[in-house]
Amino acid sequence: MRVLVVGQGAREHAIAWKLRQSPLVKEVYAAPGNAGIAAIADCVNIGVADIIELADFAEKLKMDLTIVGPELPLTLGIVDEFQKRDLAIFGPTRLAAELEGSKAFSKEFMRKYAIPTADARVCSSIDEAKAALKEFGYPSVLKVDGLASGKGVVIVGSKREAEEYLRLVFEEKKFGNAANRILVEEFLTGEEVSFMALTDGTKFVSLAPAKDYKKAFDGETGPNTGGMGAHSPAVVLNGETAAEIVKTIIMPTIQGMAAEGRPYTGCLYAGVMLTAKGPKVLEYNCRFGDPETQVQMLRLEDDLADVCLKVARGNLGDTKLNWLKEAAACVVIAVDGYPNDFPKGQEVVIDPIDDPAVTVFHAGTIPRGGRMVNVAGRVASVCARAATLSEALAKAYEAAPKVRFEGARYRTDIGYRALEQRKN
Ligand code: AMP
Ligand code: GLY
Repeated sequence: MRVLVVGQGAREHAIAWKLRQSPLVKEVYAAPGNAGIAAIADCVNIGVADIIELADFAEKLKMDLTIVGPELPLTLGIVDEFQKRDLAIFGPTRLAAELEGSKAFSKEFMRKYAIPTADARVCSSIDEAKAALKEFGYPSVLKVDGLASGKGVVIVGSKREAEEYLRLVFEEKKFGNAANRILVEEFLTGEEVSFMALTDGTKFVSLAPAKDYKKAFDGETGPNTGGMGAHSPAVVLNGETAAEIVKTIIMPTIQGMAAEGRPYTGCLYAGVMLTAKGPKVLEYNCRFGDPETQVQMLRLEDDLADVCLKVARGNLGDTKLNWLKEAAACVVIAVDGYPNDFPKGQEVVIDPIDDPAVTVFHAGTIPRGGRMVNVAGRVASVCARAATLSEALAKAYEAAPKVRFEGARYRTDIGYRALEQRKN
């Protein structure tokens, strides 16, 4: 098989790394890829939003399968374009990707199909938002409707904070058209878990749950990011709750999307809060998680190319996935300043790591003048696998300083709460 991976993050590096281990896969391409992916695949300089160019390239090279990493091309309709040309592609169509592309759509959808989620109001003006805030009180959660790279959600603790955010959104248009509408949402408490399933529109198979650490700083403080670390197993989730998530969230979502005439294929990602009243959806993503994929690929025993092709062809059948008993952990090395402004073009050096249990996935690194520089805020995912989660975390943390650049920063508490809970 010849497989194309679309994206340039550590998630796509992990996907390419896993594809490389498949006896079915002869060639791996990435668009645009990164310096780490370039060591194991052929990178072509086509941007993730250049859908027509990507389809032309896949057609010319007769790709047997394309796997899309990020949400942007999915919401722009990359899958529709490939399907029009009879090219196998893993991911949802544009209409199905609205589950992530529009938080107003997904909230209405969950309401219609009685999928448990936080109560919310969709608002198109400052006045509407203020009225909703009166109803929900503080803290409340404000979310821009459209895509905002994980930065469109804030938890506001006071009227002053809320009004400042509403001003940025509606008057300064900080998020442009993505924020023509916003959600004012009830604040939920509990542990978060990332639950994914691969689906061909009717059948589905769950991935090993993972836990993601979204806040920028230790102790779950600071702004939301794309994710600063992860581990699998999630630890905070037992088998009974996982079964409840499948029954109350995953199955009705797949059935509901089919009923809406938007059959969902690809990876369905539910960000779930385990509340005292049961699991509730915080958000859907229409793709694999980042950094969750990095730890899931370390644990997946089966052939990723095989299962993704089955999903793309609509014949998943009763495929089951097997996961190593070992735990996997990931620590994200970011540039100081991320998720806000951060310097780009800094030289990145990764010292040799002589522990076969450790794998470093690059994110947004590019070769420049014989060196390697960063173009993204998250520069690398340092991952490790071991018999226990605490050993996997220890190995990842031991290797983390080997990724060196000016302003390198990482959270020092990934996994600690999960480990604490397990002790209790
Ligand atoms: P989202 O992009 O909607 O997942 O939001 C990003 C992050 O904000 C989530 O992972 C949670 O940590 C937090 N969050 C979102 N919605 C809520 C909510 N209703 N209650 C509490 N925290 C939330
Ligand atoms: N780690 C969260 C996400 O992939 O959106």
